[in-house]
Amino acid sequence: MTWCCLNGTMMPIEQAKISPMDRGFLFGDGVYEVMARVDGRIRAKSLHQARLQSSLDAIGLSVSVDDVFAGVDQLTEKAGLLDAKIYIQVTRGAAAARDHAFPSKISPTVFLTISEFAAVSQKPSIAIVRPDIRWRRNSIKSVSLLGNVLLMQEARASGAHEAILHRDHLVTEASTSNVFVIRGQSLMTPPLSDLILPGITRHLVIEMASQIGLNVIEEPIHVDSLPDADGVFVSSSTRGLMPIVELDPGGQVGNGQLTQAFMALQAAYDERLHHHE
Ligand code: PDD
Repeated sequence: MTWCCLNGTMMPIEQAKISPMDRGFLFGDGVYEVMARVDGRIRAKSLHQARLQSSLDAIGLSVSVDDVFAGVDQLTEKAGLLDAKIYIQVTRGAAAARDHAFPSKISPTVFLTISEFAAVSQKPSIAIVRPDIRWRRNSIKSVSLLGNVLLMQEARASGAHEAILHRDHLVTEASTSNVFVIRGQSLMTPPLSDLILPGITRHLVIEMASQIGLNVIEEPIHVDSLPDADGVFVSSSTRGLMPIVELDPGGQVGNGQLTQAFMALQAAYDERLHHHE
């Protein structure tokens, strides 16, 4: 049985009902989080709590993050999965009438799901490279994901695994992950801004890179510079570190092989995943 939690009540997912007037459905008016649970522990839980709080604040939605995470604890216990992927969806809720502006009386919808998941090392992968067609406030983890959906679909349809995005020729992020470039002993990634999600995995990668002696540079990256990097990889809670060895357009990245720096980072990430908070 697949369990979920809807507005604090645990139930089999088939029994969960949300109004068609829910503003998540009508307007994409909501935010979400995705977390990996590994060996019975949510990876970097406090960072996910803080990011959910900032997404809620950014859209003027008042929901107790502590209550949401109490629901997550109950759901993980009920599901009994030590290795799982957990989604938190919070929308502004359902109002009687449709109006773009916030209704005065409305209570949020909080929907939690959990599914089996194994954090495994990713194979060398292919990314398409495309203009970033999304809105300009991507630091909010919004449920309005149509741009990301269309870009990922385009990647899949062309046999690739991700879409790396650029705005005015500067790399922003990828459709479901953050982007990193390796050059020698330097690790480069675009700086945090409204244009990218402050990825939790990005945060951990930067921390680990410094610990293993890489020189971390948070600076704009020109999209044309990607193919002649030594390595490119993307990061996310569900995929961990995914090496990109081919770009379309762009061709092979570096010599097409994984760099020592990437392998050291991957080893540090695996260690962190299994042995730390
Ligand atoms: N995606 N950028 C975008 C656009 C994302 O959707 C994600 C995560 C990231 C990486 O963030 P984090 O390291 O915190 O997972 C960056 C998740 C996995 C998803 O939507 O399923």
